[in-house]
Amino acid sequence: MQLVIGTLAYMAMSVAAFNNGVGELPALGYDTFNAFGCDYNASSVAAQAKVMQKHGLVDLGYNILILDDCYALKERNATGHMVADPTKFPNGLPAFSAQINKLGMKLAAYGDNGYQTCAGHPGSYGRELQDLQTWSSWGMSYLNREIANSTALDIPADNTTQENMLGRFQRMASAIEEFAAQTGITFEYSLCEWGWQQPWVWGRKMAQAWRNDGDIKPYWSALAAIIDQASFQYWACEYGALPTMTLPVDYPYHMQCIICYYEQGSSSSHEEA
Ligand SMILES: *[C@@H]1O[C@H](CO)[C@@H](O)[C@H](O)[C@H]1NC(C)=O
Ligand SMILES: *[C@@H]1O[C@H](CO)[C@@H](O)[C@H](O)[C@H]1NC(C)=O
Ligand SMILES: *[C@@H]1O[C@H](CO)[C@@H](O)[C@H](O)[C@H]1NC(C)=O
Ligand SMILES: *[C@@H]1O[C@H](CO)[C@@H](O)[C@H](O)[C@H]1NC(C)=O
Repeated sequence: MQLVIGTLAYMAMSVAAFNNGVGELPALGYDTFNAFGCDYNASSVAAQAKVMQKHGLVDLGYNILILDDCYALKERNATGHMVADPTKFPNGLPAFSAQINKLGMKLAAYGDNGYQTCAGHPGSYGRELQDLQTWSSWGMSYLNREIANSTALDIPADNTTQENMLGRFQRMASAIEEFAAQTGITFEYSLCEWGWQQPWVWGRKMAQAWRNDGDIKPYWSALAAIIDQASFQYWACEYGALPTMTLPVDYPYHMQCIICYYEQGSSSSHEEA
């Protein structure tokens, strides 16, 4: 699922582990998956963004809008580029991205570690740099990267990519560095493997954020379970290294948002959307 983005942030006194200048503070925003699955398009996503703006969430900082799985056609084109689904985005993603920017939000990408995404769209294995170029050309610089299509083969390693989950996440981290060196654009990198392999232990070595938990469901017990789980793992957080919590609230268009805890030293504040 998805959704996103809430973050349990704990500012520790230690040195940032992976400091490449982005993602020092928690990203806040919205992800299409929980409410829409694959069934979204430019008009439904724009409507969602408008609702967030109207209710003041964008002003509060909820300004990332992740297009989750299914924005691309299942086949890459002849040069291996992902192609935005023209039925969903008839004016193309650069134009849609500009439309979202006018609402004060920024489109963000979903990608996969393997050859395919969960729903069978192109995954980035072996095309990390090329896909960063494509996402960037669509106005995106935040990547939520999943292991979905290779989970059955993930532990300890799969026989297709011949690399384990850690190695495949690292490939993209290296590509992000390479892309930044080429262009000056540094993607914010958020790992998603649902907490199966203890990302709070290793995630901050290569990324700014990681999912601790499984997919959210739109009811309280699911939300409470995520908060509970995060409460045992907050110790791993520091400046620039934050777990992504996926929390919903009931809004028009099933908008899922966020509860953000932000603690600093002994003072803490709590925003709830
Ligand atoms: C866009 O998607 C919504 C559902 O998310 C659907 O109701 C609507 O008909 C779609 N619009 C177009 C133009 O496909
Ligand atoms: C594939 O898509 C990319 C990005 O839109 C484009 O630059 C390239 O020309 C396309 N390749 C072909 C063969 O159409
Ligand atoms: C990967 O994608 C294919 C194509 O949609 C699908 O048949 C398969 O079940 C997916 N595998 C996993 C592990 O999600
Ligand atoms: C790779 O793993 C899959 C799933 O476990 C298995 O079906 C397949 O036979 C394996 N292929 C090779 C070449 O080992």
